[in-house]
Amino acid sequence: MTETVLDRTHEIIRRLETREGRIGIVGMGYVGLPLALLFSEERFAITGFDIDPHKVKTLNQGSSYIVRIHGADIQSAQNSGFAATADYSQIAKMDVVIICVPTPLNEYHEPDLTYVTDTVRSIAPYLQEGQLIILESTTYPGTTEEVVVPLLEAGNPAGLRVARDAESRGFYVAFSPEREDPGNDTVARRDIPKVVGGCGPAARDLACAVYATIFNRCVPVSSPAVAEMTKLLENIYRCVNIALVNELKQLCMRMGIDLFEVIDAAKTKPFGFQAFYPGPGLGGHCIPIDPFYLAWKAKQFDFHTKFIELAGQVNLDMPYFVVENIIEAMSQRGKPLCGSRVLLLGLAYKRDIDDLRESPSLTIIELLQKRGALVEYNDPFFPTVGRGRKYALNMTCTPLEKIPEFDCVVIVTDHSQYDFAEIVAKAQLVVDTRNATKGIVSANVVKC
Ligand SMILES: NC(=O)c1ccc[n+]([C@@H]2O[C@H](COP(=O)([O-])OP(=O)(O)OC[C@H]3O[C@@H](n4cnc5c(N)ncnc54)[C@H](O)[C@@H]3O)[C@@H](O)[C@H]2O)c1
Repeated sequence: MTETVLDRTHEIIRRLETREGRIGIVGMGYVGLPLALLFSEERFAITGFDIDPHKVKTLNQGSSYIVRIHGADIQSAQNSGFAATADYSQIAKMDVVIICVPTPLNEYHEPDLTYVTDTVRSIAPYLQEGQLIILESTTYPGTTEEVVVPLLEAGNPAGLRVARDAESRGFYVAFSPEREDPGNDTVARRDIPKVVGGCGPAARDLACAVYATIFNRCVPVSSPAVAEMTKLLENIYRCVNIALVNELKQLCMRMGIDLFEVIDAAKTKPFGFQAFYPGPGLGGHCIPIDPFYLAWKAKQFDFHTKFIELAGQVNLDMPYFVVENIIEAMSQRGKPLCGSRVLLLGLAYKRDIDDLRESPSLTIIELLQKRGALVEYNDPFFPTVGRGRKYALNMTCTPLEKIPEFDCVVIVTDHSQYDFAEIVAKAQLVVDTRNATKGIVSANVVKC
């Protein structure tokens, strides 16, 4: 008797239950690696795919390259069978493949899906009947159906098609967004509900069965596009609200009102208000980027996302606002920015993480240097900074003992390792973009 796809899905579910199921995760970065570790904790033998040979080698040596993940975590995953590889032919052995590769913007601020399309083209030749492919990368609604499925169908030599119900033959495809908040330890990863949309109910249910092994709750939705849009709504919600408080901060400064005090008072309301905080601008791989994915897609529907783009613009302007305030604070003390020494505290885009992507500190450094300032930085997570996407710094971390030598110290990221009272006591001038000096009374502190 020939095996049907229905038999095959039942077999995958059985294999998941017994932990024989093979799960491949493509992209061993900030999203894919912790996901691999979560499955490993549940005794799955995970294969981590990555094109970066350094990452593959490091992981296979039982070491980590992400600060908040320890070598011991990798080693215990290895005890469950975890191994990293750059060899895509291993895809053929997997029951489930989860894609966690970057989705950045190109130089025109448009979606750059090349990491996703390269990955899917690499998977397609090894695609198996009954296999489940899940995309987790954040992207615009329609990507799974319009980009991923056609590439998989066109690229597999057996001519397999996506199976939209349990009876049809082929492979399964789903989208499930990653909703992690790096550095936020208040919610355990397995307590973050997993939204899942499948190309058909069978794919959705199979994907839910996979995630039910590591997440406490799955939220099935009617299509991949709904799941894709859910992720964008969540991030755009944050982007717009951060823009609102960033704008209000500028107004409050003119009015002589402390917006942080206002927010603390407003958040005592038990309903209808969620606190967001102003800062030097947006960073990370999500909030500054994702809104532009939707804005781009909206144009195909003759729709201009004015609200989203305005929020993006307010947030993009924040590093310029910070630099204006540095210039103002220094000139009030009789110092021109040009030729002065400025120390940035914190390069990472947010507290206690080792992620520099899209960080506003990079723009602030660039703007200060263009105006002739002699800029240095301190960040416990970056002993040196070389070349990255859209920046080339070639700088080394300046020790905090040198603070008194600087004309101005700018708090860009409020890492919890910093003792702000000591920093204020030593510094000639502190420009604080994070309210990190709350409660410290000093004429040398300027908040912006
Ligand atoms: N970092 C976050 O906090 C976060 C949170 C939620 C969602 N996301 C989304 O998750 C996705 C991944 O983000 P990330 O932060 O993990 O990115 P990352 O850059 O940390 O990791 C991506 C990994 O994919 C690898 N890669 C790239 N192309 C590949 C290919 N063709 N084959 C195999 N490996 C390949 C890279 O070498 C890298 O190791 C993005 O879409 C992002 O928007 C990220």
